[in-house]
Amino acid sequence: MPVREYACSRFLQKALHVSHPTILLTGAGGQVGSALVPLLAPLGPLVALDRRALDLTDAPAVQAALRQHRPQLVINAAAYTAVDRAETDASTAFAVNAQAPEVMAQVCGELGAALIHYSTDYVFAGSKPTPYLETDPTGPLGVYGRSKLAGEQALLHSATPSLIFRTSWVFSRHGHNFLNTMLRLGQERPQLGVVDDQWGAPTWAGSIAQATLAIVQQASAGPTPKRSLAEFMQSHRGLYHMTNQGATTWFGFAQAIFERYPQCTARLQAIPTRDYPTPVQRPANSRLSNERLAQVFGIRLAHWQQALQECLDQPPTIPL
Ligand SMILES: NC(=O)c1ccc[n+]([C@@H]2O[C@H](COP(=O)([O-])OP(=O)(O)OC[C@H]3O[C@@H](n4cnc5c(N)ncnc54)[C@H](OP(=O)(O)O)[C@@H]3O)[C@@H](O)[C@H]2O)c1
Repeated sequence: MPVREYACSRFLQKALHVSHPTILLTGAGGQVGSALVPLLAPLGPLVALDRRALDLTDAPAVQAALRQHRPQLVINAAAYTAVDRAETDASTAFAVNAQAPEVMAQVCGELGAALIHYSTDYVFAGSKPTPYLETDPTGPLGVYGRSKLAGEQALLHSATPSLIFRTSWVFSRHGHNFLNTMLRLGQERPQLGVVDDQWGAPTWAGSIAQATLAIVQQASAGPTPKRSLAEFMQSHRGLYHMTNQGATTWFGFAQAIFERYPQCTARLQAIPTRDYPTPVQRPANSRLSNERLAQVFGIRLAHWQQALQECLDQPPTIPL
């Protein structure tokens, strides 16, 4: 049962004053993908594909899926996100993060469809002292960042209308992420050292999904959905930074988690990056300015602490 197709009620479409483009979502089993499914389902026909239904390393399968379902909008929430593993598996990382988005853009071009894609703070080196702008020079520190940057560039060089949302430090109750790791280790260990010299904005997958929904609603609010959506995407195409507001370190994030989850009794200790070596260096500064997103779409995501609370208030999601 890997493919999920959702129909929407015409009553709900009318009530919401939105049109109903067919949307094809990849990575429907991931953090952002699984948060998007229930939000997109009421908008119209939704083809939600997880990795079992569509493997992005299989370019002909990607082409075939898009040609079969003929969506007006593709949302690519799939990605190879194993940052350290990518160092020894570069061909898979590039196949998923760079070549697959390029293939999607080509087929979207044939179909007159638009594309929404996500990218990462790891396209930057992290040496800038202030929040990164979309126009700042990139300088990825590892294979994952380079593969995501190549995916961005493939879309930016394509004629297909696409929006690319760069985000950072994604968390949810679903899957592998810092929040779930802290919730587990905080109950298992007496003491936990957490890095306190890397800065960024923890971003809830639910916030990314809500912001994406709001933009899809803006794009599809018109009398002729296909034309208005493609035109909207064309006139707004490009890169946007999309994170929860505020910034902290991994240590600060861990403290906020433990404050809200009393079962986590481990004593937290702030440590420098050099005491937690990883195969790939992480950017010291991952902060992304969200001003362009606010100016163009009128959207500002919640503060990360508010988003954390909202996330913890929800039960853990069940994987697809
Ligand atoms: N996670 C972060 O901290 C973070 C930070 C900055 C930006 N981003 C970006 O945000 C977007 C959403 O990430 P996320 O946090 O939702 O990541 P995630 O939870 O790792 O989800 C990614 C999804 O992609 C799927 N996937 C991996 N390889 C695939 C393949 N070959 N074919 C099809 N699907 C495949 C994964 O499937 P499996 O579960 O089966 O592996 C997973 O369901 C991505 O573009 C990512 O680069 C994430």
